[in-house]
Amino acid sequence: MNLTLKIWRQKDSNAKGQMVDYKVTDISEHMSFLEMMDVLNEQLVNSGDEPVAFDHDCREGICGMCSMYINGEAHGPDRGITTCQLHMRMFKDGDTITIEPFRAKAFPVIKDLVVDRMAFERIQQAGGYISVNTSGNTQDANGIPISKHAADEAMDAATCIGCGACVATCKNSSAMLFVGAKVSQYALLPQGQIEAVDRVKNMVAQMDAEGFGNCTNTGACEIECPKGISLENIARMNRELMKAHLK
Ligand code: SF4
Ligand code: FES
Repeated sequence: MNLTLKIWRQKDSNAKGQMVDYKVTDISEHMSFLEMMDVLNEQLVNSGDEPVAFDHDCREGICGMCSMYINGEAHGPDRGITTCQLHMRMFKDGDTITIEPFRAKAFPVIKDLVVDRMAFERIQQAGGYISVNTSGNTQDANGIPISKHAADEAMDAATCIGCGACVATCKNSSAMLFVGAKVSQYALLPQGQIEAVDRVKNMVAQMDAEGFGNCTNTGACEIECPKGISLENIARMNRELMKAHLK
C-alpha cells in the first residue's frame, strides 16, 4: 500500500503545532499501525529529519500508552482495540490518514503525538488503592467470600488500561469513564470498603482539579474505549459519591 499521512508535528509544549504531509510506500496490510509509523520514522531518520514522537510500550493492548487520534477516532477505525493492535488491513492503497495527539486541556501535548497523562496518575494517587494488613496476621484472600457477579463486574472495571481514549473522545473532555472504572473496581469488592468514602471523594475532587469536564451522557467514551468499559461504572461512581456525602 502507498499512503499519505497527515501528522501533527509540534516541537514542544510551547510551540505552535501544525499538520505535515508525508508519503509512505510498500506498507504491508499485515503490519500494525505502529510498525507503519516505524517505517515512516526510519525514512525520516535516513533523510536527516526529526522522527515523529509517539508513545508506545507493550504493543499488545496492555499498557495504554499508544494514544493516537486516527482519522478522527481515538485508537483509529476498529473497535475494542488500542492503536498498537490496529492493523494496516483496515486501510486501502492510496488512503490519506490523519494522525493527531489525544486532545484535552488536562492532557497537554509534550511533543508531536505525545501527551502528558500524569493527571490520571494523580487521580489514582488520590485514592485508587486499598490498605492491606501485612502485620503477619493477614487473612487468606480466598477466605473472603465474593459473589461471582460482583467478581465479574469488578474484573470488567479493572480492565481499564488508563489510555485516555475516553477523555479524547468526549466533547467535554470528561474523565468520568476512567474514574468510574477505578472507583468501581474497589467499590464492588469487600477489600475496597475500608477507604470507600475517602476514595470516591478524593478521586472525584482530583479529577475536577485537573480540569477534566463533566459527563453529559453522550456515551461516545464507551464506544471508543478499547476495553469496553461500561457507562454503568459512571453511574456507580455517582452513587458512591452520593453515599459518601450522606455519611
Ligand atoms: S475507560 Fe477505556 S478509554 Fe478510558 S482510560 Fe480506561 S481503557 Fe482507556
Ligand atoms: S503500546 Fe501498550 S497498549 Fe498500545
